[in-house]
Amino acid sequence: MSSTVISDIATLVTNDPSLDGSPLGLVRNAAVVIEGDRVVWTGESSKAPATDNRVDAGGRTVLPGFVDSHSHLVFAGDRTEEFNARMSGRAYSAGGIRTTVAATRAAADAELEANLVRFLDEALRQGTTTFETKSGYGLTVEDEARALRLAARHTDEVTYLGAHIVAPEYAEDPAAYVALVTGEMLDACAPHARWIDVFCEKGAFDGDQARAVLTAGRAKGLHPRIHANQLSYGPGVQLAVELDAASADHCTHLTDADVDALAAGSTVATLLPGAEFSTRAAWPDARRLLDAGVTVALSTDCNPGSSFTSSVPFCVALAVRDMGMTPDEAVWSATAGGAAALRRTDIGRLAPGAYADLTLLDAPSHVHLAYRPGVPLVAGVWRRGVRAV
Ligand code: NIG
Ligand code: FE
Repeated sequence: MSSTVISDIATLVTNDPSLDGSPLGLVRNAAVVIEGDRVVWTGESSKAPATDNRVDAGGRTVLPGFVDSHSHLVFAGDRTEEFNARMSGRAYSAGGIRTTVAATRAAADAELEANLVRFLDEALRQGTTTFETKSGYGLTVEDEARALRLAARHTDEVTYLGAHIVAPEYAEDPAAYVALVTGEMLDACAPHARWIDVFCEKGAFDGDQARAVLTAGRAKGLHPRIHANQLSYGPGVQLAVELDAASADHCTHLTDADVDALAAGSTVATLLPGAEFSTRAAWPDARRLLDAGVTVALSTDCNPGSSFTSSVPFCVALAVRDMGMTPDEAVWSATAGGAAALRRTDIGRLAPGAYADLTLLDAPSHVHLAYRPGVPLVAGVWRRGVRAV
């Protein structure tokens, strides 16, 4: 198996605390050695072992590829008009999801997949090497299963979100829709997914319905994650902890009891600042969560309604500027935090045995991701040891 060293790295972020005692595991004047699809060595450049190939990082920064643990990329159409109306003062509501459901149902498989690939490519060019994505814009047995089948061709992190909103056909009988989501639709979808999710919110599903959805999914071998406390206070976060969901996502409206529950459990709080940016909502308080000892992930929530960005660097900059995170914390949350939200230890860090998923930044340190917002700093991306950008 051929080996490659990436040397002359000014700042290497490993997320391996054994190297410097800090969560980011920083090494200056560093090198990384890759063999096949794995990292086999990290340390100071001068001590790197001999390899077959050499790449000169030219005094720039290398960090683990971003782990975007929350996106909704199987859809058709967009919602420019809804965004325009919001920027003229209209509020965001879950109802806009129906517009995308109609467009997605009408689209051919090839159109949906081409759309998905376009966003993945966009994300890769911005340093994302792992992404999770969901169904949720089909809301029929066939359309949900189709979305998951298409997503599973491109990622292992596929989430069944039949419970995104009550399908329009069931508006008068939400209980019948929950029965479908937990019955026939679940049977058709479970073989294509790893996770089950529910939008627990006024206008979507209440706490009892969310519990029914997640426990039915769990009985079919899917692990829970949840859209919780995005638009208002509610039972989602505490339900997530109770069911040991991998992640409670959004976490914008939290009581002290919600924060205490997250701190006591092993559910990650995934913050999605693109949604607050694009809906002009109040920011989630990352500082409060971090100070309470909660594990925080940062992801894009890329979707055509509430957050139409595929850029993790943009989310890092927002989290630092507006959510009380330090640059170190935000970079950790966008890499190791995302991996924790997917319950993975083989990604989100650069240590021997981990996948060789790396992002090269045209900057002397990772701090520039927040210090130079909006600047395309990503100069290279390796996925599974292969240079992709
Ligand atoms: O995570 N909150 C629910 N789902 C998405 C928005 C979906 C949409 O508006 O199309 C979210 O923000
Ligand atoms: Fe979402």
